[in-house]
Amino acid sequence: MKLIATLLCSLLFLSACASPRPLQTLYVKLGGLGMIENIADAFINQIGENDQLYPFFENSSVDRFKEKFVEHICMISNGPCEYTGDSMQDVHANMGINEAIFNHTVEALIDAMSTVGVSHRLQNELLKRLAPMRKDIIYVAR
Ligand code: HEM
Repeated sequence: MKLIATLLCSLLFLSACASPRPLQTLYVKLGGLGMIENIADAFINQIGENDQLYPFFENSSVDRFKEKFVEHICMISNGPCEYTGDSMQDVHANMGINEAIFNHTVEALIDAMSTVGVSHRLQNELLKRLAPMRKDIIYVAR
């Protein structure tokens, strides 16, 4: 009887170990809103120091960009935010963004994420979610 009880306990223990951990959102894995704000600040710094990117942003409001960018990253990483900015097509229309500029922007974002300590694995998870937006941003003319 004691043996059976011990076996049952072991089985229960093992099944508890084998059961999958609850899935964490990318938002949680990134470190929540505070970390997304750090990414946005570092990204804005990168843009400010970049001669190819800054001209696109020189007439934009930094405060608005930061607010909407944070909401956007929060939303696409399944965080508890509602994106209240404009669509990617509307925002980037007629800016003349080509593939080189797009890739350059992604590099600046990667540098920003590295600066604030986002792991390469999480960087890739976020970039994978941004990649499909490329078609709404490059060569959009209205
Ligand atoms: C996946 C790539 C990108 C994402 C997710 C993204 C996201 C955003 C977001 C969320 C906003 C704020 C929208 C709003 O204010 O309603 C924004 C604004 C802006 N983006 Fe992007 N963007 C991307 C690529 C680019 C590229 C390649 C450029 C060109 C260098 C660019 C230039 C701008 C500019 C200049 C603004 C400010 C527009 C304004 O002041 O009205 N973005 N972007």
